[in-house]
Amino acid sequence: MNANHEDLTMTSTTLELLQKYSVAGPRYTSYPTAPYFHTGYREADWLEALAAMQPGRGISLYAHIPFCDSLCYYCGCNMVATRDYSKTVPYLAALEREMAATAARVDPGRVVRQLHLGGGTPTYLHPDDIRALMGRMRGHFNIAPDAEISCEVDPRELTREHLVALRENGFNRVSFGVQDMDPKVQEAVNRIQSEFLIRQVVDWARELGFSSVNLDLIVGLPRQTLESFRGTLERVVGWSPDRLAVFAYAHVPWIKKHQRLIQESDLPDFATRLALQQAVNETLGGAGYVNIGLDHYARPEDELVRAQQNKTLWRNFQGYTTHKDCDILAFGASSISQTVDVYMQNEKGLKSYEARVTATGFAVERGIKLSLDDRIRREAITRVMCDLELDLAAFGQEWNIDATTYFADALADLRPLADDGLVAFDASRIEVTRAGRMFLRNIGMCFDRYFKEAAADKPRYSRTA
Ligand SMILES: C[S@@+](CC[C@H](N)C(=O)[O-])C[C@H]1O[C@@H](n2cnc3c(N)ncnc32)[C@H](O)[C@@H]1O
Repeated sequence: MNANHEDLTMTSTTLELLQKYSVAGPRYTSYPTAPYFHTGYREADWLEALAAMQPGRGISLYAHIPFCDSLCYYCGCNMVATRDYSKTVPYLAALEREMAATAARVDPGRVVRQLHLGGGTPTYLHPDDIRALMGRMRGHFNIAPDAEISCEVDPRELTREHLVALRENGFNRVSFGVQDMDPKVQEAVNRIQSEFLIRQVVDWARELGFSSVNLDLIVGLPRQTLESFRGTLERVVGWSPDRLAVFAYAHVPWIKKHQRLIQESDLPDFATRLALQQAVNETLGGAGYVNIGLDHYARPEDELVRAQQNKTLWRNFQGYTTHKDCDILAFGASSISQTVDVYMQNEKGLKSYEARVTATGFAVERGIKLSLDDRIRREAITRVMCDLELDLAAFGQEWNIDATTYFADALADLRPLADDGLVAFDASRIEVTRAGRMFLRNIGMCFDRYFKEAAADKPRYSRTA
């Protein structure tokens, strides 16, 4: 057992605390969180935000490709399962139009540091359409030669030719959806994929020179047992990914109606979910992976781990990132853009997205302009979730506030968590303890003004554990 193994293992006290603090809560990929984006935010506001962008900042581009060949019953993403490839034609045309309209308002000297294709399944697109899309993106934006370029990939239906097209177009990172390798679980979520298949796509990615291979897993899927999930984890570790994202299954059937296809009686109970999480920590810790914080694991030499050590890690809609100082320009249905003080989300439906873009070049559905208080609280939540500490004195200087007074509400709410050993704090510093690492969402909530003000009876989020 090495040090990491010990660090990541849960004690029975932690298990009790997880039960105690299991509440519906946000994951803080944004603050304010998406439910607080509002439709009063209009296209004119977004045009103003584009004009006000700081020219020195880098750009992170995102394009949402919502199509999937089939429906995974657990899916919480904005996607359209269809075998009708012709649907991509108007969609790709709208993407092109939206990129052109946006690029016309962006200083052409600004450099793209990061580019991500997400979904849905971006590799639903035929290889030549991936080439054409990337050609358009390069035509509109100035992509740095060393930009981090990544793509989400469903291993099923993927051909080597897709990965060749991605590599030819500068992609250096790839993220494969694995979720669970047990055939019973795969059947319950309508996603059958063999061990041979995953091994093959990972081998292709290595052969073709992708510098980082990420695998996604989900804990809490129907029919998962400790024994079966251990089998999944052992196989996954055997494929030696550079990173792993282990998401807690977000069961929100009141939002994602198709999740009703999952038999709730098949879902693992609380104790099993915790045991599964413990198996994740033990197996990944034992294999030398470092837990970055919420959901993410990487090798000790990975830049996310280094950024965490250097306190330059940041969180955005794609999870943890090393690109803090970038504006996110996002294209496609449901995609979310972000500048220093704005979040803007596009129309979610394919037809409404395409119609709006055809009419004006944009498809603003909702958004929010951040107040100074929002920005201060976002920074505090981010620092706690990324650095696992908050230096109140330095933070106060940076924002020109007395942080102890400013966060009096948060410190009062943190008190019970401190009593349970999840955080330690005094007048100058808040620190997440080792046990507290599994409670980052709960700690974040103490700083979240909207969460506290919201009516308690409205289930907007999945549970924290
Ligand atoms: C947008 S999906 C893209 C992956 C790709 N379409 C595939 O199927 O492999 C990104 C990841 O989100 C995760 N995910 C999707 N729905 C989820 C849910 N309801 N709860 C937790 N994680 C989820 C899965 O791990 C998935 O691989």
